[in-house]
Amino acid sequence: MSQFITNHDVTKALKEVIFFAKQNNIVDLGMIDDINIEGNNIKVSVVFPKLDDPAVGIVYNSIVKTLKAELGEEISVEVKPIAEKDKGLGPLSGVKNIVAVIAGKGGVGKSTVAANLAVSLSKTGKKVGILDADIMGPSVPIMFGVEDEQPGVIEREGKSIMVPLENHGVKILSLGFFVKPDQALMWRGSMINNAFNQLMKDAEWGDLDYLVIDMPPGTGDIQLTLAQSYNVKGTVLVTTPQKLATADVRRAAMMYRQDKLTIPLLGVVENMSYFTPDELPDKKFYIFGKGATDELARELEIPVLGRLPIKEKIVESGDGGIPVVLNNDNGLSNNFAEIAVNVEKEIEKL
Ligand SMILES: Nc1ncnc2c1ncn2[C@@H]1O[C@H](COP(=O)(O)OP(=O)(O)O)[C@@H](O)[C@H]1O
Ligand SMILES: [Mg+2]
Repeated sequence: MSQFITNHDVTKALKEVIFFAKQNNIVDLGMIDDINIEGNNIKVSVVFPKLDDPAVGIVYNSIVKTLKAELGEEISVEVKPIAEKDKGLGPLSGVKNIVAVIAGKGGVGKSTVAANLAVSLSKTGKKVGILDADIMGPSVPIMFGVEDEQPGVIEREGKSIMVPLENHGVKILSLGFFVKPDQALMWRGSMINNAFNQLMKDAEWGDLDYLVIDMPPGTGDIQLTLAQSYNVKGTVLVTTPQKLATADVRRAAMMYRQDKLTIPLLGVVENMSYFTPDELPDKKFYIFGKGATDELARELEIPVLGRLPIKEKIVESGDGGIPVVLNNDNGLSNNFAEIAVNVEKEIEKL
């Protein structure tokens, strides 16, 4: 058993619940509208063609029995049947893949990778959103040049729903729009979680192929909430090549993986991998050392999704609000395109 129950654990168990009318399990049939986990209390919303069908009761009982058998008798399970016609109203129902970009510590280039991965995916025609959940160091608004704007708000069924900003083909929301970093220190865990959940669930993300989340570094409340309450496809680890950095990211990765493969680790990106001076284009200087990222990848049995050189252009683009992949003549767009392709490949393998 895991230390805590995650959305992945529940989804996996629900694959054993069969809807006989359609000869398949309720997960693959797309019948799960929402899963909510708080400690040992699990709420599952399930979509049925008709609510007056006797199958509803059968599936209901089967869900309770299966979840208790798989996750422990001590859990409490609440099942909410929803009629087909109300389907799709669940939050994030239009989002196909949630990908969390994680790191062990700040400053390794997590936001740079998240932002440029999002834009690279969008350049290939995918619908992409980015959610900046790094409450202490939100940098996505600056990287996308929208730091002076505010997301819109609409009312729906008596509820306020946020409308993400949009730039460079990517929908954007950030905790930074709501919390100033100097106030963030005073926020309690529960407040941070509420704000995070609002950005996820009370926002009009619409149909997305990828929602990339720029996670706070390390392990904390938001990491736990993400793993428990959302169906995360996988994580992308970002590290620099120093042994100390890879040790930190290993700890963060293990939280997602726990004692079994709970949320898949898609792979690791090695940032600030090497330096190539303009006047020596064939040379690679491994300023921060070489080998630690490969060792980490071997140990975790995950691929290296790509490597990024140290380049001044990355700093300029980040600060200037135009992700560096949009500038085709600096070679970096290829590095990021490769990372995007590898992320998609790893997701397909799941
Ligand atoms: N490969 C790189 N080469 C040069 N500067 C980089 C590189 N990657 C990131 N940076 C710079 O390092 C700083 C930290 O990067 P950032 O992506 O904000 O890290 P994190 O989100 O992990 O804190 C930023 O100023 C960024 O522009
Ligand atoms: Mg950051």
